[in-house]
Amino acid sequence: MSYEVPKNDKLLKWVEEMATLCQPEKIHWCDGSQQEYDELCALLVKSGTFRKLNPEKRPNSYLAWSDPIDVARVEDRTFICSISKNDAGPTNNWMHPKEMKTKLKGLFKGCMKGRTMYVIPFSMGPLGSPIAKIGVEISDSPYVVINMRIMARMGKAVLDVLGSGEFIPCMHSVGAPLEPGQQDSPWPCNKEKYIVHFPEERSIWSFGSGYGGNALLGKKCLALRIASKIGKDEGWLAEHMLILGVESPEGEKTYVGAAFPSACGKTNFAMLIPPKSFQSKGWKVTTIGDDIAWIKPAADGKIYAINPEYGYFGVAPGTNAKTNPNAMASCAANTIFTNVALTPDGDVWWEGMTDEPPAKLTDWQGQEWTPGCGRPAAHPNARFTSPASQCPSIDPDWENPKGVPISAFIFGGRRKNTIPLVYQSFNWSYGVYLAATMGSETTAAAVGATGNVRRDPFAMLPFCGYHMADYFSHWLQFGRTIARPPRIFSVNWFQKDEDGKFVWPGYGENMRVLKWIVERVTGRTGAVESPLGWMPRYQDIDWEGLDISREKFHEIMAVDRAQWKDELVAHDELFIKLFDRMPKEFLHIRELITSSLWRSPEHWEQIGDVHPEGWNE
Ligand code: GTP
Ligand code: SPV
Ligand code: MN
Repeated sequence: MSYEVPKNDKLLKWVEEMATLCQPEKIHWCDGSQQEYDELCALLVKSGTFRKLNPEKRPNSYLAWSDPIDVARVEDRTFICSISKNDAGPTNNWMHPKEMKTKLKGLFKGCMKGRTMYVIPFSMGPLGSPIAKIGVEISDSPYVVINMRIMARMGKAVLDVLGSGEFIPCMHSVGAPLEPGQQDSPWPCNKEKYIVHFPEERSIWSFGSGYGGNALLGKKCLALRIASKIGKDEGWLAEHMLILGVESPEGEKTYVGAAFPSACGKTNFAMLIPPKSFQSKGWKVTTIGDDIAWIKPAADGKIYAINPEYGYFGVAPGTNAKTNPNAMASCAANTIFTNVALTPDGDVWWEGMTDEPPAKLTDWQGQEWTPGCGRPAAHPNARFTSPASQCPSIDPDWENPKGVPISAFIFGGRRKNTIPLVYQSFNWSYGVYLAATMGSETTAAAVGATGNVRRDPFAMLPFCGYHMADYFSHWLQFGRTIARPPRIFSVNWFQKDEDGKFVWPGYGENMRVLKWIVERVTGRTGAVESPLGWMPRYQDIDWEGLDISREKFHEIMAVDRAQWKDELVAHDELFIKLFDRMPKEFLHIRELITSSLWRSPEHWEQIGDVHPEGWNE
């Protein structure tokens, strides 16, 4: 034991019970110190999990390559074990808690043999803040300890704040016991995986994976699945959202929350650097969080959001000095890289980092790699774990326990067609509808096929800890209680042309859309009414420094009725799935959208595009 444990009977009893079950060789209570971090990194280098990167290129940074069977979240192995099956809802996997506990006890029995059991106290949210939640993760993975220290406030200070108070127990094992004399593998894990949540009991059990959202239990498991259930019970929201601040030339600050599904642009949008012409006018964007937001109403009638995390677990591929310089700066040092490629001089590389790939690399599976060899050098879900404080655009209020006031919510999926660049919903209910019916192509952030459009309500499909339709009702109800609810917007950065090329430049250029959004919120810009909501006209967007013609703009703002027919059918499929708890508003909104898309029976025949200047034609 590295320090004396404070008196928390529940914690001591739980640790003892888990040690008896898992039979580790020893127990290590994490203090969160730099010394502990350095020692564990050295241990991971020795066991072959980590390679120390060239300190001149990447100070104090390491590279880990996972087992190829352990590269992303496993949604089909993720369970919400509420007492009643219908409380988990049809979008979650479920097993009865009793049955699941029996299953888990069997799996965890002796699972830490030959390993150290780490006790990792962590706080989601600023230490000691009234909105923070304390969890304690037990894990047999030193990789998890290292990543948890970057991603959450972690260590002895958390136990001091906890005292004899309540914590959320998070049990984790890679599920690879070591027999005496057996050589450990660089990335121990198990073919069988279980990521399990008990929402009523507020506890988490994770078995078999050492990767990201499966193993760093403060993130998706606690801060989303369990917290969403707590939020439902207590009247607040736990969301898969970035939080950013926009400062106008007049010095007015507007904060927005944006929910995009996994690997659909949250980190990039959160760290957006405005185009030169915007910078010179005085526009500035600051980062509060890039993945998770906890949002609560306050006495002043506004709603406030905090980022419960302490670091970024960001997608590496596609990140570069042009598209996201702030992310590049964030991972310049003190970073753990997972499943990226190694350069001959001891630095990292991934697809999209530079225009020209290096002549030679070692790929994420440890194989020699040359350009054109037919394999990606980095896994498409390769990640960097970096301290949030290293982001140059970090907002001065990012650790403010009060949070920042939110004026707009933005929802955006990855859609090659159908969804226009941007529109504003008519009101809160329409906004909740658009978020609830959001579709997006699947990505490498979860194991399985990529590129298939599926409904991903609020970007929360894999992260909602209870019945999805109850979650919709919770959002509707939340809006009813706020005097001036945030405006709600839909965006799509990912439309493609016939050649499969993105038609919108994206990244920093998204500022042009963000500015329109902010000016809608502050009542400073115009819009036209479309069947879906309010849309900018060409002249409502600031185009300085970007060559986009009026015709091109109309193309990316078009609503194609044939595509929307399919889209509405897809909405209906979701509604049918959730039928027994669907909010009644949605059925009416769906009808209103349908009737304004086809204003008369002849319109059913008249399939064609309509753009913002053409609504009244
Ligand atoms: P998670 O961490 O999985 O929740 O992902 P995320 O939502 O933070 O996504 P991220 O910002 O890491 O972006 C994922 C991928 O989308 C990266 O390869 C980015 O380069 C790419 N991307 C982000 N923003 C844009 C954009 O505006 N346009 C285009 N074309 N690609 C983008
Ligand atoms: C996501 O998949 O949305 C992520 C990565 O942010 S993970 O932490 O693995 O969930
Ligand atoms: Mn995410």
